[in-house]
Amino acid sequence: MADQANTAEHGYELARRLFELRGDDLCVGGLPVRSIVSQTGSPVFIYDGSVMRTAYRRLSKVLEGFASIYYSAKANPAQAVIRLFLQEGAGIEIASLGEYRTAIAAGASPKQIIFAGPGKRRQELETVVPDGIDEIHVEGLDEIERLRSIGLPVRVSIRVNPVPTVQAGAMRMGGKPTAFGFDEEDLEAAIAAITAVPNIELVGIHVYGGTQILDASALLAQWRHSIDLAGRVARMIGRPLETIDLGGGLGIPYYSIDKPLDLDAVAAAVPELTGMLKADALLADTRVIVEPGRYLAGEAGLYVSEINAVKQSRGTRFVVMEGGMNHHLAASGNLGQVIKRNYPVVAPARMTATASGPVTLVGPLCTPLDTLARDALMPDLGVGDLVAVLQSGAYGATASPLNFLSHPHPAEVLVEDGQIKTISCDRAGKPAPTGEGMP
Ligand SMILES: Cc1ncc(COP(=O)(O)O)c(C=O)c1O
Repeated sequence: MADQANTAEHGYELARRLFELRGDDLCVGGLPVRSIVSQTGSPVFIYDGSVMRTAYRRLSKVLEGFASIYYSAKANPAQAVIRLFLQEGAGIEIASLGEYRTAIAAGASPKQIIFAGPGKRRQELETVVPDGIDEIHVEGLDEIERLRSIGLPVRVSIRVNPVPTVQAGAMRMGGKPTAFGFDEEDLEAAIAAITAVPNIELVGIHVYGGTQILDASALLAQWRHSIDLAGRVARMIGRPLETIDLGGGLGIPYYSIDKPLDLDAVAAAVPELTGMLKADALLADTRVIVEPGRYLAGEAGLYVSEINAVKQSRGTRFVVMEGGMNHHLAASGNLGQVIKRNYPVVAPARMTATASGPVTLVGPLCTPLDTLARDALMPDLGVGDLVAVLQSGAYGATASPLNFLSHPHPAEVLVEDGQIKTISCDRAGKPAPTGEGMP
């Protein structure tokens, strides 16, 4: 029970830190959640633009003089979200032609875009290379061959799967056998294959170790290792590197046991990291890139659903929402989480009500996997009440099986300065709110 109380407290604490409370109402982007839902209908992902801008500006201050930020579009590829980060000065990291097209539609120039991902198709490369995309992050020999046969000049960075000693994060993407990049042990052969192709210019390295890193010292160890690796690559090719992409992976606190990433510790290490670059003649003018997704978008989003049914089964009170893991796979614990813990949940129109007892929040799917929170302490909720899952701005709708059971898709809205901008609203029978429409 102590754990449940912590979970509920964590949700309310986050709601107070990130958004605004007005009486019973949680307000996002200056509007009560219930009034947003009255316009969009339920379920809906609500993103607070100013929370995204704050995250960007905080990180950008920490990295000042050391690294540029590229927003990783896979975290939340909504066009209005990409546009917001472009307005803040970010570049965009993409992983597909779909994300590329959205970034271009959001106002990015190809020169502001870098492209990573283990299975880039010929058609994708045939589109982005003639457009003059800034960098392709090559991940395998097939890609090198595709770029050779396209025959146009292209700048590439080599994605390196680092040695295991520098790994961290809730989901590791390097340091073990992976489909991502070239193993650090095989670097020489990979570089030889790239530099043998006349139309390919090797300009940098890219290392992405893992996601949801909350330990600043682990993140910094990865960054130091990548800078060291960049020096080795520069020596192998005998000339300076233009870019080092240190990846993303900066985490946010989802669970009551999570401690936020210590950005002060990161800031304190920046002079040392900059010193490492300056001390190496081949890296002294190298541009460093950090490409976070979750850190920039995650805390700004809520998933809100109306309750559709409440029932009791063998001592457990089930609250059945209009949407569940079909819209928010990560909150159900089925997006790679090893231990299923509750995302922070609140009742956004009952913020002053006291908790009445533990409930299990489930979605409408015919599977017990469709559980968004277990034994969550909530006020006494009934049909028509709202539930909000916090920390839902990254890897929400975009990482969910939206078509599973053919329920309506959720709406997605960006709210800023009291204005709702629609990102998408394709649910049958529900009019889209006014504002920015679907691209
Ligand atoms: C290559 C690459 N860059 C950036 C990211 C974004 O990671 P995060 O959201 O953890 O910052 C990912 C996520 O999988 C990735 O694969």
